[in-house]
Amino acid sequence: MQHSGISSWRDRERIQMPVYTDNDALNAVETQLRAMPPLVFADEARRLKRDMAAVSRGEAFLLQGGDCAESFEQFGADMVRDTFKVLLQMAMVLTYGAKVPVVKVGRIAGQFAKPRSAPTETSNGVELPSYRGDIINGFDFDEDSRIPDPERMIEGYTQAAATMNMLRGMAKGGLADINKVHEWTLGFTAEDKAADYRDIANALQDTMDFIRAAGLSPAKAEELASVDFYTSHEGLLLEYEESLTRRDPVTGEYVAGSGHLIWIGDRTRQPDGAHVEFCRQIINPIGLKCGPTTTAEDLKVLVDRLMNGKLDDAGRLMLITRFGAGKVEEHLPRLIETVEEMGAKVVWTCDPMHGNTIKSGSGYKTRPFEDVLSEVQEFFDVHQRMGTVAGGVHFEMTGQDVTECTGGVIAVTDEDLSDRYHTACDPRLNASQSLELAFLVNKLMREKGGDTRAAVNS
Ligand code: PEP
Ligand code: CO
Repeated sequence: MQHSGISSWRDRERIQMPVYTDNDALNAVETQLRAMPPLVFADEARRLKRDMAAVSRGEAFLLQGGDCAESFEQFGADMVRDTFKVLLQMAMVLTYGAKVPVVKVGRIAGQFAKPRSAPTETSNGVELPSYRGDIINGFDFDEDSRIPDPERMIEGYTQAAATMNMLRGMAKGGLADINKVHEWTLGFTAEDKAADYRDIANALQDTMDFIRAAGLSPAKAEELASVDFYTSHEGLLLEYEESLTRRDPVTGEYVAGSGHLIWIGDRTRQPDGAHVEFCRQIINPIGLKCGPTTTAEDLKVLVDRLMNGKLDDAGRLMLITRFGAGKVEEHLPRLIETVEEMGAKVVWTCDPMHGNTIKSGSGYKTRPFEDVLSEVQEFFDVHQRMGTVAGGVHFEMTGQDVTECTGGVIAVTDEDLSDRYHTACDPRLNASQSLELAFLVNKLMREKGGDTRAAVNS
């Protein structure tokens, strides 16, 4: 049977998607999800698109961050709140460096499905299907738990809805108050080890004092008391995505209701594949991960297809580059040249996590803090040289005090990794490493004196 409209991905090749054995159960879950309220609405997706258009012109900077994989077991109010807090702190520090508004996008409220590099995992001589994220199968290393279960989509939706509810409350309530966000940051720089960043925090304090002296306060100016906070995830599990897609009642356009922004992973960006076919039809801003194997030819087709031929549709498409430290110079220029030749208006952003995963001496999957920083620096350098806009950064991070990535001022060593290694998938920056990175990116941006936005200013 030929599928049409938003179901057309079903006729394309599916990569990295589970094969469900019980079709009746799958259909029942899809029917159930189709009857649920969407988590985001068309106008919110359009507002994010406008914000992303500003990022593409260098008039705003993008901060995207959160878990590699959200977990059902580790879910709770504290976790959501702490991630939100750290993202706001990072955004405030980055605003100061970028001198433009920071668009805040969480990897949250739907970041459940994971592409894997191998279909199976072996432990103590036992080989089982790989874990693919809590919305697909279970983390526990036993046969039953690794069977894909469609019912997990309902639990994923429920957790995403609860998360979204909390995010909406926090974004408009007291937790987003600029004075409070600044106070937490002062707490971090008060620690001896973070003394290097005290100057920046003090300069920020001066600015806050000035704002107050000029008569502006959170009570008077809503902008100081609340934030716009958006959600995003990889749109990997297309049965879930399609079931939550709604038609805009006015325009008839498709809106993914699962999150504000959806991205396509580095492993599922085949130009004729299912994921591109799904994403090209929704009006939400789309991210496309670009790793070292991205060819100029493929990128050309992908940009054209995902922008539906409207290459000046700024805010529609974000290219998330992830090559690894030391490899940006080798790969980014050809992608920039391709996009410039096409005249496409895209957002360029840097994911310095996925090209920098290594196995530590103690056997843990980790990422050295200095490699993460290096890749961001190389990304800024190449864009500056080529006169294009370095639009933003994309991190895997958490508000919890985990020990998953090595390095940082409050140094996590190889031996520390086993202390609090909680991630369900890739290693994340902890709260202090995340904030430190924001301080360092702030420094980078200020050293460049706004030249990362050369294309706009010239
Ligand atoms: C991810 O963002 O978690 C991910 C798997 O990234 P990539 O597709 O770039 O490998
Ligand atoms: Co990841």
